[in-house]
Amino acid sequence: FQREKRNILEAHEYSAKLYHYLLQNLEIAKSAKEYLLARGLGDALIEQFGIGYAPPRWDTLAQALDRKGYDASEMETGGLLSKRQDAEGVVDRFRDRIMFPIQDAKGQTIAFAGRLLSDGQPKYLNSPETALFSKSRTLYRLHEARSAIRKTGQVVLFEGYMDVIKAWSAGVHNGVATMGTALTNEHAALLRRFADEVILCYDGDDAGQAAAHKSIPLLETAGFRVRVSVLPNRLDPDEYISGYGPEQFVREMIEGAVSAVKFQLIYLRKSHILLEEDGRIRYLRDAVRVVARRDSPMERELLLKELAQEFGVSLDTLKQESLEFRQREKL
Ligand code: UTP
Ligand code: MN
Ligand code: MN
Ligand code: MN
Ligand code: MN
Repeated sequence: FQREKRNILEAHEYSAKLYHYLLQNLEIAKSAKEYLLARGLGDALIEQFGIGYAPPRWDTLAQALDRKGYDASEMETGGLLSKRQDAEGVVDRFRDRIMFPIQDAKGQTIAFAGRLLSDGQPKYLNSPETALFSKSRTLYRLHEARSAIRKTGQVVLFEGYMDVIKAWSAGVHNGVATMGTALTNEHAALLRRFADEVILCYDGDDAGQAAAHKSIPLLETAGFRVRVSVLPNRLDPDEYISGYGPEQFVREMIEGAVSAVKFQLIYLRKSHILLEEDGRIRYLRDAVRVVARRDSPMERELLLKELAQEFGVSLDTLKQESLEFRQREKL
Protein backbone atom coordinates (compact mmCIF):
# COMPACT_ATOMS: atom_id res chain seq x y z
CA PHE A 1 0.00 0.00 0.00
CA GLN A 2 2.85 2.41 0.85
CA ARG A 3 4.41 1.40 -2.42
CA GLU A 4 1.23 2.14 -4.32
CA LYS A 5 1.07 5.59 -2.71
CA ARG A 6 4.68 6.26 -3.68
CA ASN A 7 4.02 5.20 -7.26
CA ILE A 8 0.97 7.46 -7.46
CA LEU A 9 2.96 10.41 -6.09
CA GLU A 10 5.78 9.84 -8.56
CA ALA A 11 3.32 9.50 -11.40
CA HIS A 12 1.75 12.84 -10.46
CA GLU A 13 5.14 14.56 -10.55
CA TYR A 14 5.79 12.98 -13.91
CA SER A 15 2.35 13.86 -15.29
CA ALA A 16 2.67 17.49 -14.19
CA LYS A 17 5.98 17.76 -16.06
CA LEU A 18 4.52 16.06 -19.10
CA TYR A 19 1.39 18.24 -19.27
CA HIS A 20 3.55 21.34 -18.82
CA TYR A 21 5.96 20.23 -21.55
CA LEU A 22 3.06 19.53 -23.90
CA LEU A 23 1.57 22.99 -23.31
CA GLN A 24 4.90 24.64 -24.03
CA ASN A 25 5.89 22.54 -27.04
CA LEU A 26 2.97 20.88 -28.77
CA GLU A 27 1.53 22.36 -31.95
CA ILE A 28 -2.02 21.43 -30.92
CA ALA A 29 -1.50 23.18 -27.59
CA LYS A 30 -1.38 26.53 -29.38
CA SER A 31 -5.05 27.26 -28.79
CA ALA A 32 -4.56 26.51 -25.10
CA LYS A 33 -1.63 28.94 -24.96
CA GLU A 34 -3.66 31.58 -26.75
CA TYR A 35 -6.55 31.01 -24.37
CA LEU A 36 -4.25 31.50 -21.38
CA LEU A 37 -2.66 34.58 -22.90
CA ALA A 38 -6.08 36.10 -23.55
CA ARG A 39 -6.79 35.60 -19.84
CA GLY A 40 -3.57 37.37 -18.89
CA LEU A 41 -1.45 34.29 -18.26
CA GLY A 42 1.82 34.54 -20.14
CA ASP A 43 4.90 32.34 -19.91
CA ALA A 44 6.05 33.68 -16.55
CA LEU A 45 2.79 32.69 -14.84
CA ILE A 46 2.59 29.40 -16.76
CA GLU A 47 6.04 28.54 -15.37
CA GLN A 48 5.34 29.84 -11.85
CA PHE A 49 2.16 27.78 -11.52
CA GLY A 50 3.34 24.75 -13.51
CA ILE A 51 0.34 24.99 -15.81
CA GLY A 52 0.00 22.33 -18.50
CA TYR A 53 -2.23 20.96 -21.22
CA ALA A 54 -3.86 17.56 -21.64
CA PRO A 55 -4.37 16.87 -25.38
CA PRO A 56 -7.73 15.65 -26.75
CA ARG A 57 -6.51 12.06 -27.39
CA TRP A 58 -7.77 9.32 -25.11
CA ASP A 59 -4.36 7.82 -24.40
CA THR A 60 -1.66 10.52 -24.19
CA LEU A 61 -0.99 10.00 -20.49
CA ALA A 62 -2.01 6.33 -20.45
CA GLN A 63 0.69 5.55 -23.04
CA ALA A 64 3.33 7.67 -21.35
CA LEU A 65 2.68 6.13 -17.92
CA ASP A 66 2.73 2.66 -19.45
CA ARG A 67 6.09 3.34 -21.09
CA LYS A 68 7.40 4.46 -17.69
CA GLY A 69 6.31 1.12 -16.25
CA TYR A 70 3.44 2.36 -14.07
CA ASP A 71 0.63 -0.09 -13.37
CA ALA A 72 -2.62 0.97 -15.09
CA SER A 73 -4.88 -0.06 -12.23
CA GLU A 74 -2.73 1.82 -9.71
CA MET A 75 -2.92 4.90 -11.92
CA GLU A 76 -6.67 4.53 -12.06
CA THR A 77 -6.81 4.35 -8.25
CA GLY A 78 -4.64 7.46 -8.16
CA GLY A 79 -7.11 9.36 -10.37
CA LEU A 80 -4.85 9.97 -13.36
CA LEU A 81 -6.62 7.44 -15.58
CA SER A 82 -10.25 6.33 -15.81
CA LYS A 83 -11.82 2.95 -16.48
CA ARG A 84 -13.26 2.70 -19.98
CA GLN A 85 -17.02 2.61 -19.90
CA ASP A 86 -17.68 0.23 -22.76
CA ALA A 87 -14.66 -2.03 -22.77
CA GLU A 88 -11.68 -3.31 -20.80
CA GLY A 89 -8.80 -1.01 -20.04
CA VAL A 90 -8.15 2.57 -19.02
CA VAL A 91 -8.11 5.97 -20.69
CA ASP A 92 -6.84 9.43 -19.75
CA ARG A 93 -9.07 11.09 -17.18
CA PHE A 94 -8.17 14.58 -18.45
CA ARG A 95 -8.58 15.36 -22.14
CA ASP A 96 -8.40 18.67 -23.99
CA ARG A 97 -8.08 20.62 -20.76
CA ILE A 98 -5.75 23.21 -19.29
CA MET A 99 -4.10 21.52 -16.35
CA PHE A 100 -3.50 23.09 -12.97
CA PRO A 101 -1.35 20.90 -10.72
CA ILE A 102 -2.43 20.83 -7.07
CA GLN A 103 0.11 20.36 -4.31
CA ASP A 104 -0.20 19.17 -0.73
CA ALA A 105 1.26 21.02 2.26
CA LYS A 106 4.67 19.51 1.50
CA GLY A 107 4.63 20.77 -2.06
CA GLN A 108 4.09 17.35 -3.65
CA THR A 109 1.71 17.20 -6.58
CA ILE A 110 -1.26 15.09 -5.48
CA ALA A 111 -4.04 16.07 -7.88
CA PHE A 112 -5.03 18.15 -10.91
CA ALA A 113 -7.79 20.48 -11.94
CA GLY A 114 -8.46 20.58 -15.67
CA ARG A 115 -10.31 23.46 -17.31
CA LEU A 116 -12.12 23.26 -20.63
CA LEU A 117 -11.05 25.84 -23.21
CA SER A 118 -14.62 26.39 -24.32
CA ASP A 119 -18.04 26.30 -22.72
CA GLY A 120 -19.08 22.85 -21.59
CA GLN A 121 -19.51 20.69 -18.54
CA PRO A 122 -17.90 20.30 -16.20
CA LYS A 123 -15.94 23.54 -16.60
CA TYR A 124 -13.35 22.24 -14.17
CA LEU A 125 -12.70 18.54 -13.77
CA ASN A 126 -10.88 17.77 -10.53
CA SER A 127 -9.05 14.61 -9.50
CA PRO A 128 -11.22 12.27 -7.44
CA GLU A 129 -10.67 11.83 -3.72
CA THR A 130 -7.80 9.40 -3.23
CA ALA A 131 -5.55 8.20 -0.42
CA LEU A 132 -3.37 11.24 -1.20
CA PHE A 133 -5.98 13.86 -2.04
CA SER A 134 -8.82 15.03 0.16
CA LYS A 135 -10.68 18.15 -0.96
CA SER A 136 -11.79 19.01 2.55
CA ARG A 137 -8.16 19.17 3.66
CA THR A 138 -6.46 20.66 0.61
CA LEU A 139 -6.04 24.34 -0.15
CA TYR A 140 -4.73 25.31 -3.56
CA ARG A 141 -1.25 26.92 -3.24
CA LEU A 142 -0.98 26.67 0.55
CA HIS A 143 2.57 25.34 0.28
CA GLU A 144 3.72 28.29 -1.83
CA ALA A 145 1.70 30.90 0.05
CA ARG A 146 2.70 29.73 3.51
CA SER A 147 5.66 32.05 4.09
CA ALA A 148 3.71 35.12 2.93
CA ILE A 149 0.80 34.07 5.15
CA ARG A 150 3.10 33.73 8.16
CA LYS A 151 4.81 37.03 7.46
CA THR A 152 1.56 39.01 7.22
CA GLY A 153 -0.43 36.91 9.70
CA GLN A 154 -3.12 37.07 7.08
CA VAL A 155 -4.50 34.72 4.44
CA VAL A 156 -6.70 35.66 1.49
CA LEU A 157 -9.24 32.99 0.66
CA PHE A 158 -10.48 32.69 -2.93
CA GLU A 159 -13.06 30.52 -4.67
CA GLY A 160 -11.16 29.76 -7.82
CA TYR A 161 -7.75 28.74 -9.12
CA MET A 162 -7.70 31.62 -11.59
CA ASP A 163 -8.42 34.07 -8.79
CA VAL A 164 -5.39 32.86 -6.82
CA ILE A 165 -3.16 33.11 -9.89
CA LYS A 166 -4.32 36.56 -10.97
CA ALA A 167 -4.12 37.87 -7.40
CA TRP A 168 -0.59 36.46 -7.13
CA SER A 169 0.34 38.37 -10.27
CA ALA A 170 -1.14 41.49 -8.64
CA GLY A 171 1.27 41.02 -5.74
CA VAL A 172 -1.09 39.20 -3.36
CA HIS A 173 1.12 36.23 -2.46
CA ASN A 174 -0.82 35.05 0.60
CA GLY A 175 -3.79 33.71 -1.36
CA VAL A 176 -5.19 30.18 -1.40
CA ALA A 177 -8.40 28.59 -2.68
CA THR A 178 -10.70 25.76 -1.72
CA MET A 179 -11.20 23.02 -4.27
CA GLY A 180 -14.66 23.93 -5.52
CA THR A 181 -16.17 22.70 -2.25
CA ALA A 182 -17.27 24.57 0.86
CA LEU A 183 -14.76 25.69 3.45
CA THR A 184 -14.36 23.11 6.24
CA ASN A 185 -13.25 23.18 9.87
CA GLU A 186 -10.18 21.24 8.74
CA HIS A 187 -9.25 24.03 6.30
CA ALA A 188 -9.69 26.58 9.07
CA ALA A 189 -7.56 24.61 11.54
CA LEU A 190 -4.84 24.22 8.93
CA LEU A 191 -4.74 27.97 8.23
CA ARG A 192 -4.88 28.89 11.91
CA ARG A 193 -1.34 27.57 12.29
CA PHE A 194 -0.05 30.42 10.10
CA ALA A 195 -2.55 33.27 10.30
CA ASP A 196 -4.94 35.06 12.62
CA GLU A 197 -6.80 37.04 9.99
CA VAL A 198 -8.72 35.80 6.96
CA ILE A 199 -9.83 37.98 4.10
CA LEU A 200 -12.69 36.30 2.28
CA CYS A 201 -12.36 37.27 -1.38
CA TYR A 202 -15.16 35.27 -2.94
CA ASP A 203 -17.01 35.95 -6.18
CA GLY A 204 -19.39 38.90 -6.26
CA ASP A 205 -22.31 36.77 -7.51
CA ASP A 206 -25.06 35.49 -5.20
CA ALA A 207 -23.39 32.10 -4.73
CA GLY A 208 -20.09 33.68 -3.77
CA GLN A 209 -21.63 36.15 -1.35
CA ALA A 210 -23.73 33.41 0.26
CA ALA A 211 -20.59 31.27 0.65
CA ALA A 212 -18.79 34.17 2.33
CA HIS A 213 -21.76 34.67 4.66
CA LYS A 214 -21.66 30.99 5.64
CA SER A 215 -17.89 30.94 6.16
CA ILE A 216 -17.80 33.80 8.68
CA PRO A 217 -19.08 31.90 11.76
CA LEU A 218 -16.90 28.90 10.90
CA LEU A 219 -13.80 31.08 10.73
CA GLU A 220 -14.66 33.14 13.81
CA THR A 221 -15.22 29.94 15.79
CA ALA A 222 -11.75 28.82 14.70
CA GLY A 223 -10.39 32.03 16.22
CA PHE A 224 -9.83 34.20 13.15
CA ARG A 225 -10.50 37.86 12.73
CA VAL A 226 -12.46 37.97 9.47
CA ARG A 227 -12.70 40.63 6.79
CA VAL A 228 -14.57 40.40 3.50
CA SER A 229 -13.93 41.85 0.04
CA VAL A 230 -17.18 43.00 -1.46
CA LEU A 231 -16.78 42.65 -5.22
CA PRO A 232 -19.01 44.90 -7.33
CA ASN A 233 -21.22 43.93 -10.28
CA ARG A 234 -21.04 40.19 -9.61
CA LEU A 235 -17.41 40.16 -10.71
CA ASP A 236 -14.97 37.59 -9.45
CA PRO A 237 -11.45 38.60 -8.35
CA ASP A 238 -9.94 37.50 -11.68
CA GLU A 239 -12.44 39.62 -13.64
CA TYR A 240 -11.99 42.55 -11.27
CA ILE A 241 -8.22 42.53 -11.79
CA SER A 242 -8.64 42.34 -15.56
CA GLY A 243 -11.16 45.18 -15.50
CA TYR A 244 -9.73 47.57 -12.94
CA GLY A 245 -6.07 46.60 -12.71
CA PRO A 246 -3.88 45.13 -9.96
CA GLU A 247 -3.32 48.34 -7.95
CA GLN A 248 -7.02 49.05 -7.58
CA PHE A 249 -7.63 45.41 -6.65
CA VAL A 250 -5.08 45.53 -3.83
CA ARG A 251 -6.27 48.92 -2.61
CA GLU A 252 -10.04 48.43 -2.79
CA MET A 253 -10.55 44.70 -2.39
CA ILE A 254 -7.70 43.62 -0.10
CA GLU A 255 -6.75 46.68 1.95
CA GLY A 256 -10.33 47.91 1.66
CA ALA A 257 -11.95 44.65 2.77
CA VAL A 258 -14.69 45.36 5.30
CA SER A 259 -15.12 43.81 8.75
CA ALA A 260 -17.21 40.65 9.07
CA VAL A 261 -20.04 42.51 10.76
CA LYS A 262 -20.08 45.26 8.11
CA PHE A 263 -20.36 42.55 5.50
CA GLN A 264 -23.19 40.86 7.37
CA LEU A 265 -25.06 44.18 7.39
CA ILE A 266 -24.47 44.69 3.67
CA TYR A 267 -25.63 41.12 3.05
CA LEU A 268 -28.73 41.61 5.17
CA ARG A 269 -29.73 44.71 3.22
CA LYS A 270 -30.23 42.66 0.08
CA SER A 271 -33.14 40.75 1.58
CA HIS A 272 -35.02 43.85 2.73
CA ILE A 273 -36.84 46.57 0.83
CA LEU A 274 -35.52 49.72 2.46
CA LEU A 275 -37.79 52.01 0.46
CA GLU A 276 -40.76 50.76 2.47
CA GLU A 277 -41.40 51.62 6.09
CA ASP A 278 -41.92 48.07 7.36
CA GLY A 279 -38.94 46.87 5.31
CA ARG A 280 -36.81 49.48 7.06
CA ILE A 281 -38.08 48.43 10.47
CA ARG A 282 -37.43 44.76 9.80
CA TYR A 283 -33.96 45.52 8.47
CA LEU A 284 -33.13 47.67 11.47
CA ARG A 285 -34.30 44.98 13.91
CA ASP A 286 -32.29 42.26 12.13
CA ALA A 287 -29.28 44.58 11.86
CA VAL A 288 -29.37 45.33 15.58
CA ARG A 289 -29.35 41.58 16.22
CA VAL A 290 -26.26 41.14 14.04
CA VAL A 291 -24.57 43.93 15.99
CA ALA A 292 -25.79 42.65 19.36
CA ARG A 293 -23.93 39.38 18.80
CA ARG A 294 -20.56 41.14 18.75
CA ASP A 295 -18.46 40.65 21.87
CA SER A 296 -16.94 44.11 22.07
CA PRO A 297 -19.17 46.81 23.67
CA MET A 298 -17.18 49.48 21.82
CA GLU A 299 -17.74 47.80 18.46
CA ARG A 300 -21.45 47.49 19.26
CA GLU A 301 -21.74 51.15 20.19
CA LEU A 302 -19.97 52.38 17.05
CA LEU A 303 -22.13 50.24 14.77
CA LEU A 304 -25.35 51.18 16.55
CA LYS A 305 -24.41 54.86 16.19
CA GLU A 306 -24.06 54.42 12.45
CA LEU A 307 -27.43 52.67 12.22
CA ALA A 308 -29.08 55.31 14.41
CA GLN A 309 -27.77 58.07 12.18
CA GLU A 310 -28.73 56.39 8.94
CA PHE A 311 -32.28 55.53 10.01
CA GLY A 312 -33.03 58.55 12.14
CA VAL A 313 -33.57 56.58 15.34
CA SER A 314 -32.05 57.50 18.68
CA LEU A 315 -28.96 55.65 19.84
CA ASP A 316 -30.68 54.95 23.17
CA THR A 317 -33.52 53.10 21.48
CA LEU A 318 -31.12 50.90 19.51
CA LYS A 319 -29.02 50.24 22.61
CA GLN A 320 -32.17 49.20 24.45
CA GLU A 321 -33.16 46.88 21.58
CA SER A 322 -29.67 45.40 21.51
CA LEU A 323 -29.58 44.89 25.27
CA GLU A 324 -32.93 43.10 25.31
CA PHE A 325 -31.74 40.82 22.53
CA ARG A 326 -28.53 40.01 24.41
CA GLN A 327 -30.47 39.18 27.55
CA ARG A 328 -32.92 36.96 25.64
CA GLU A 329 -30.08 35.12 23.91
CA LYS A 330 -28.02 35.00 27.11
CA LEU A 331 -25.06 36.69 25.44
P1 UTP B 1 -16.35 29.46 -10.79
O1 UTP B 1 -17.52 29.03 -11.57
O2 UTP B 1 -16.44 30.75 -10.07
O3 UTP B 1 -15.15 29.42 -11.79
O4 UTP B 1 -15.97 28.30 -9.78
P2 UTP B 1 -13.87 30.36 -11.89
O5 UTP B 1 -12.91 29.98 -10.82
O6 UTP B 1 -14.29 31.78 -11.96
O7 UTP B 1 -13.29 29.82 -13.26
P3 UTP B 1 -13.03 30.59 -14.62
O8 UTP B 1 -12.57 31.97 -14.31
O9 UTP B 1 -14.30 30.55 -15.40
O10 UTP B 1 -11.97 29.77 -15.26
C1 UTP B 1 -15.10 28.50 -8.69
C2 UTP B 1 -14.36 27.23 -8.39
O11 UTP B 1 -15.26 26.14 -8.24
C3 UTP B 1 -14.69 24.95 -8.73
C4 UTP B 1 -13.29 25.31 -9.16
O12 UTP B 1 -12.42 25.11 -8.05
C5 UTP B 1 -13.40 26.77 -9.50
O13 UTP B 1 -12.17 27.43 -9.50
N1 UTP B 1 -15.43 24.38 -9.85
C6 UTP B 1 -16.17 25.16 -10.69
C7 UTP B 1 -15.34 23.03 -10.08
O14 UTP B 1 -14.67 22.30 -9.35
N2 UTP B 1 -16.00 22.49 -11.17
C8 UTP B 1 -16.72 23.26 -12.02
O15 UTP B 1 -17.27 22.73 -12.99
C9 UTP B 1 -16.82 24.62 -11.77
MN1 MN C 1 8.78 25.20 -18.30
MN1 MN D 1 -18.14 31.32 -8.53
MN1 MN E 1 -15.42 32.72 -10.33
MN1 MN F 1 -13.43 33.45 -13.03
